Amino acid sequence: MAAFATILFLLIAAANLSFSSCFQISNYVGCTEREKQALLRFKQDLIDPSNRLASWVDHQDCCKWAGVVCNNETGYVSELHLKNPPLDDFSSEVKYKAYEMSKLGGQLNPALLSLKNLIYLDLGDNNFVGNSIPEFLGSMVSLRYLNLSVSGFQGKVPHQLGNLSNLQYLDLQANQLHVENLQWLSGLSFLEYLDLSIINLSAATDWLQVVNKLPSLLQLRLSDCLLSDFPLLADVNISSSLAVLDLSWNWFDYSLFHRWISRLSNLISLNLQANNLQGPIPDNLQNFTSLKNLDLSFNNLNSGLPNWFHSFSHLEYLNFCSCNLHGTISSAISNLSSTFNNLELSFNYELSGKIPRSFGKLCNLVSISLTGVNLDQDVSEVLEILSGCASNTLESVYMGNCTLSGHLINQLGQFKRLNLLSLWGNSISGPIPVSLGELSSLKTLYLYGNELNGSLPTSFGKLSKLEDAVISQNLLKGVVSEVHFANLARLKAFNAYGNSLVLKVDTDWVPPFRVETLALGSWQLGPRFPSWLQSQEDLLKLDISNSGIFDSVPAWFWNLSLQFTVLNLSHNQIYGQIPSIDAFSYSLVIDLSSNKFIGPLPPVSSRVAALDVSNNSLSGSISNFLCDKMNEPSQIEVLNLADNHFSDEIPDCWGNWQKLVAIKLANNKFSGNIPDSVGTLSSLQSLNLRKNNLSGKLPLSLRNCSKLGSIDFSENDFDGNIPTWMGKWLPNIMILSLHSNKFHGAIPDELCALTSLQILDLRQNELSGTIPRCISNFKAMVIKNYSATTFISYETSGGSYFEDALLVMKGKVLEYSTTLKLVRSMDLPTICYQERSPVGKSQAFMVCNRSTCHTIF
Ligand SMILES: *[C@@H]1O[C@H](CO)[C@@H](O)[C@H](O)[C@H]1NC(C)=O
Ligand SMILES: *[C@@H]1O[C@H](CO)[C@@H](O)[C@H](O)[C@H]1NC(C)=O
Ligand SMILES: *[C@@H]1O[C@H](CO)[C@@H](O)[C@H](O)[C@H]1NC(C)=O
Ligand SMILES: *[C@@H]1O[C@H](CO)[C@@H](O)[C@H](O)[C@H]1NC(C)=O
Ligand SMILES: *[C@@H]1O[C@H](CO)[C@@H](O)[C@H](O)[C@H]1NC(C)=O
Ligand SMILES: *[C@@H]1O[C@H](CO)[C@@H](O)[C@H](O)[C@H]1NC(C)=O
Ligand SMILES: *[C@@H]1O[C@H](CO)[C@@H](O)[C@H](O)[C@H]1NC(C)=O
Ligand SMILES: *[C@@H]1O[C@H](CO)[C@@H](O)[C@H](O)[C@H]1NC(C)=O
Ligand SMILES: *[C@@H]1O[C@H](CO)[C@@H](O)[C@H](O)[C@H]1NC(C)=O
Ligand SMILES: *[C@@H]1O[C@H](CO)[C@@H](O)[C@H](O)[C@H]1NC(C)=O
Ligand SMILES: *[C@@H]1O[C@H](CO)[C@@H](O)[C@H](O)[C@H]1NC(C)=O
Repeated sequence: MAAFATILFLLIAAANLSFSSCFQISNYVGCTEREKQALLRFKQDLIDPSNRLASWVDHQDCCKWAGVVCNNETGYVSELHLKNPPLDDFSSEVKYKAYEMSKLGGQLNPALLSLKNLIYLDLGDNNFVGNSIPEFLGSMVSLRYLNLSVSGFQGKVPHQLGNLSNLQYLDLQANQLHVENLQWLSGLSFLEYLDLSIINLSAATDWLQVVNKLPSLLQLRLSDCLLSDFPLLADVNISSSLAVLDLSWNWFDYSLFHRWISRLSNLISLNLQANNLQGPIPDNLQNFTSLKNLDLSFNNLNSGLPNWFHSFSHLEYLNFCSCNLHGTISSAISNLSSTFNNLELSFNYELSGKIPRSFGKLCNLVSISLTGVNLDQDVSEVLEILSGCASNTLESVYMGNCTLSGHLINQLGQFKRLNLLSLWGNSISGPIPVSLGELSSLKTLYLYGNELNGSLPTSFGKLSKLEDAVISQNLLKGVVSEVHFANLARLKAFNAYGNSLVLKVDTDWVPPFRVETLALGSWQLGPRFPSWLQSQEDLLKLDISNSGIFDSVPAWFWNLSLQFTVLNLSHNQIYGQIPSIDAFSYSLVIDLSSNKFIGPLPPVSSRVAALDVSNNSLSGSISNFLCDKMNEPSQIEVLNLADNHFSDEIPDCWGNWQKLVAIKLANNKFSGNIPDSVGTLSSLQSLNLRKNNLSGKLPLSLRNCSKLGSIDFSENDFDGNIPTWMGKWLPNIMILSLHSNKFHGAIPDELCALTSLQILDLRQNELSGTIPRCISNFKAMVIKNYSATTFISYETSGGSYFEDALLVMKGKVLEYSTTLKLVRSMDLPTICYQERSPVGKSQAFMVCNRSTCHTIF
């Protein structure tokens, strides 16, 4: 019925003159004025940003409006298809934005009630955020199909919907709704399809009684409904009609299975993904002889693969992803039904052993997913097994991180339907075979993190369906030219950084693609700035770091970059000024570090989350950068201006930079005091001012930065005492480096309150007195397995960042960054501080080796 209606709708939508005359011959009546006016009123209250309802105008037959279907005999409106057209390409951010734009919003006008013959109402995938489901819908009693899914509705589901006694399909999934009970459903005796997924049903303790009594129910979907409990069903007859049951993402254990599900012997599809199933799959699951789809993924089954599932005669889809399975994949897998097509065993890290030869007998295999299974197999053997009869059907192969080794065979080309090949993170070596180019259906290719060597074959350029290719972090080298991209018109993401490839293209090359993501870090692209990028108008993420560019940035590029979300130009020799446009309007992450940029740092958009311009030759005051946009709260979390020639005072303008997590101003020529407003940065975890000309006392306001985990003020001219408030107010400090300043007085006992401290470096000051005896408080250093907080790497919206610290060991300065965590666990020195120093010149520091301390000179 619904399918037919859709076809009819398509026919009508496509209707041209000859069609309408055809309808006239068969006494086509057209829509009634009353219903047309009702729909126009309905439209009036809608917000339609992309003008989807442009055809809804008074002088047109409303039966020909977009989304409107009339009964062909009576002319009454029978169906409204107002679902947002689906997003066909999830990898395209451009399409995603258009999709978001075409959502209808606004309000649902009760004028709809005039459509007395409406049987089908689909408002799914729209944006009615802020609205509750209107009660009047409960009066549209002719409805047989109601779909309000994923549309932002809020509040309580109105029990009036229980009056829709003709309803066969009810889909309210994924709205911010809740219910008090489900009693109102019990009158819906024709209901065949019920989807209340992602709705808060935690208060509906009657859910099982109610759904179990719905006499026509075939499909029940209650995924992610915060359900854990169910009432006992002592006398209740078990509904036997249920064919599809989806209770994924709730908290059920096996008791629901034993007391209810095990009696639903006609089930065709059972989904218990991400519940609380603990232990082996109960044997009576084998009674479900009609089962086609079984999904028990994301439960802790903690067992081997049961043998009996091989004998399900109708099984098509099996998902045991992330189930803590162990043992091996048995060769009995070939006993699976001839219709079996989709095997998901990914993320069972304890599952091991090779893919059995008998796999080759699964002649309808469409998708195989073994990511993270420890196969320890030669990739050529795997491909050979799969190239049995499955080579005609196979569409997706997920075998990332499967400990595969060996070479890719040159027979790859026989997988004619393959659209996804994922072999990342293995130890596959040798060349990428030329036959790759014969994978004429390939859309997604993940080969990153292997040891593939040799050049990129020119046949790569034949993959005309390719959308998303990730071949980064291999050992590829050699020249890549136009021909490698010849037919890649659909390419949206090309990620190939970490290879030693050289791009040689004509200066006037216009690529056939318009990518959104392009990562060519460590390729040789220079010395000129790549001019072909000018055609990449959809570009959002660009990494051309470390690519031998010795040039200035062309003006068109700064223009293009306005829409970027990620830009990495680091580790080149790019010179010139960073222009004072309102740079990077959409950027989240900008990395211009290690270049030769000169001049001042212009203000950047307040949306930027991470800015790294370190290791350039930028100069002057940062007061424009910091103070110009006082009325726009900045989103910056990580700011790295280190290793430049910035000078003057650090401006007192930090009030608008509340998101800051890490500030690095090290190795510049900043002078003056630390401004008071730094104390407003309540999210700050790391403040690095090392090696400037800063002076004065540390401001008291700093104590408000209570999340600080790392302070490096070394090599400045700070003076005064080491503040006693640090101990009490900054309890999370792990790294405190104040060496080479003019601090004087005693080391305060209060520092002993810093129980997370791992590195304390006070050398080369004018301190006096002794090490406080309370040193043993430093739990982080002396207690084995003490779990330090996670600050050392911090997540930001632009990615994760690692703290680094300078450790001084035996006179050598070692820089640790990502390895800092290891430093502790490897029993290496974790503390340096001054012991009873003769003023200013002691090099003595203490080394704590977990529980024992030695002094080294
Ligand atoms: C009208 O629609 C019904 C089903 O809704 C269909 O069976 C019938 O053939 C249609 N008549 C015309 C004249 O299109
Ligand atoms: C309702 O609409 C959603 C979103 O478009 C769709 O996924 C779902 O299949 C529809 N439900 C029914 C019962 O057709
Ligand atoms: C159904 O509609 C009647 C009136 O038509 C109303 O009195 C009643 O409250 C409604 N029932 C529910 C469950 O909303
Ligand atoms: C779900 O609803 C219950 C009460 O019905 C409420 O206590 C709970 O906070 C809600 N949970 C969420 C995640 O909204
Ligand atoms: C269960 O079903 C039987 C017959 O199918 C019927 O006689 C009985 O009344 C039902 N019991 C309940 C509690 O619905
Ligand atoms: C299901 O299988 C078990 C054995 O595994 C058997 O004891 C039980 O009777 C079966 N139940 C049904 C309803 O067929
Ligand atoms: C697989 O099938 C073979 C022959 O059909 C049979 O001997 C064997 O017991 C079956 N294995 C399993 C585990 O079902
Ligand atoms: C790869 O697999 C190993 C176990 O075999 C697991 O510990 C590791 O986390 C996996 N790596 C990734 C990146 O998933
Ligand atoms: C690729 O690596 C293998 C060793 O794994 C080596 O024998 C071979 O010469 C390399 N090929 C190229 C083209 O570098
Ligand atoms: C930019 O690229 C460099 C080198 O290729 C890399 O080390 C750095 O992490 C990248 N920056 C960001 C922000 O990802
Ligand atoms: C930058 O973009 C603007 C508007 O899109 C355009 O007018 C201008 O010519 C562009 N400038 C360059 C150098 O491409």
